[in-house]
Amino acid sequence: MKTLYLRFALTTVCIMLVSGCLAFVLSNWYYQSNLKPYNDQKITEITQTIANYYENNKGLDFPNYFDHIANLGFQIAYYQEGQKPVFFGRPFDETSLPASVIREVLSGKTYHGVLRFPTGVFITGFFDDALINTIGVPLHGIEGRSALFVRPDIGTQFGEMRIFFSVLLLLTIGLSILFVFIGTYYIVRPIRTLTKATRKIAEGDFHIQLPVNRKDELGILAKSFSGMTASIEQLEKMRQEFVSNVSHEIQSPLTSIQGFSKTLQSNDLPNETKKQYLSIIELESERLSILSKQLLTLASLESEKNLLQRSPFDLAEQINQVVTMLQWQWRAKGLAIELDLPSTLINADAKLLYQVWINLLTNGIKFTDEGGTIRFEILPISVEEIQVRVTDTGVGISKEDISHVFERFYKTDKSRTNKVGGSGLGLSIVHKIISLHKGSIQVSSVPQVGTTFIVTLPRL
Ligand SMILES: Nc1ncnc2c1ncn2[C@@H]1O[C@H](COP(=O)(O)OP(=O)(O)OP(=O)(O)O)[C@@H](O)[C@H]1O
Ligand SMILES: [Mg+2]
Repeated sequence: MKTLYLRFALTTVCIMLVSGCLAFVLSNWYYQSNLKPYNDQKITEITQTIANYYENNKGLDFPNYFDHIANLGFQIAYYQEGQKPVFFGRPFDETSLPASVIREVLSGKTYHGVLRFPTGVFITGFFDDALINTIGVPLHGIEGRSALFVRPDIGTQFGEMRIFFSVLLLLTIGLSILFVFIGTYYIVRPIRTLTKATRKIAEGDFHIQLPVNRKDELGILAKSFSGMTASIEQLEKMRQEFVSNVSHEIQSPLTSIQGFSKTLQSNDLPNETKKQYLSIIELESERLSILSKQLLTLASLESEKNLLQRSPFDLAEQINQVVTMLQWQWRAKGLAIELDLPSTLINADAKLLYQVWINLLTNGIKFTDEGGTIRFEILPISVEEIQVRVTDTGVGISKEDISHVFERFYKTDKSRTNKVGGSGLGLSIVHKIISLHKGSIQVSSVPQVGTTFIVTLPRL
């Protein structure tokens, strides 16, 4: 079976056929266990009435009388002692009858053939057109002792009904099969649509139409599928953006390195200019090296799970180290550093947090004009949490930019930052490290006044 459609339709048809067979067996069992005694009783009464009328009207022309009764829809067998049987009405399919039964009836007993008829799974007693499936009663007429066996002629009595029910049954089966095939087509259709949609997505086309208005499971599936498609599309966009940003960040230092090395080769330049060009080449290679390091850091932060190597250490000590390490940078710019760092023990990844303070301090140095101030504070805000605030008196960040500064490659002012250096990855690395520690980072800033980064971290 190749398609779900065919599988579903054929399974339903099989279920219908099996149910039909079961229904037949069960209803037959119901007839044999419940209806048979009533049927027997009913036919016994009819047969008795026929016999009574015959006995009460002596001299009745019996062949004529029984012929008449047979025409009303009965099959009759008449046995006179010592003579061959006479049949009236439509002949029986099966005419064998044990001699003991005939003797029994002739001796005055009633024969309940309908009730005695064998019981079995596939024996449809009601329809069996056999002489043993009759009611036999004794007759005392002027001809002497005789036995009368009667059963309703199902063919005559229920002829039209049988045709009616056969047509009904056949139509029910035929129409059910037809509607099962049509219905299945409509049930399976949304799955086909989904399959087509997955193919389209695999080819990179995210514009898909799905039956999201359905209220059933397929509707839910379509809805989550659409949601998934939207996130894949967004991811794909982010990936493309990331690749183009990376290429751009690599391209500009490479172009400048290429340009300056060409100039250095071709022209007879004064030593002073040569030195200047070489230092630019050195600076640009350094930029490239920093960029590749940052990308590696981001990739490892994104990909590895539970990569935090927590250990207890003094945060104040660590920040002091960072400030000392970067002193040639802030001293060169004539910046003042204010520290309010009470000794604070924290259980965190020391290597990663070191990176956080470096990135925040280099930003402060980079975006604060000469003579400005950068302030580091540790605030033990609760038993569980501490806060580190880094405040500068720098250029500040505008309202529009502030929500984007943690995005990868985001720089508020491209031209300025190009001059200052940096690829816009520092804060996204900071953000990632803080989230890995289950902490948070906020920024508040007033342009031309200064910026404050507030890092909140759990102590443990
Ligand atoms: N202290 C600050 N004052 C003013 N603007 C800031 C400050 N810190 C960050 N920004 C702005 O946010 C942007 C993103 O900062 P981020 O640290 O991610 O990148 P970067 O410093 O430009 O480059 P990188 O850190 O990768 O060398 C910066 O380009 C800058 O425009
Ligand atoms: Mg930075």
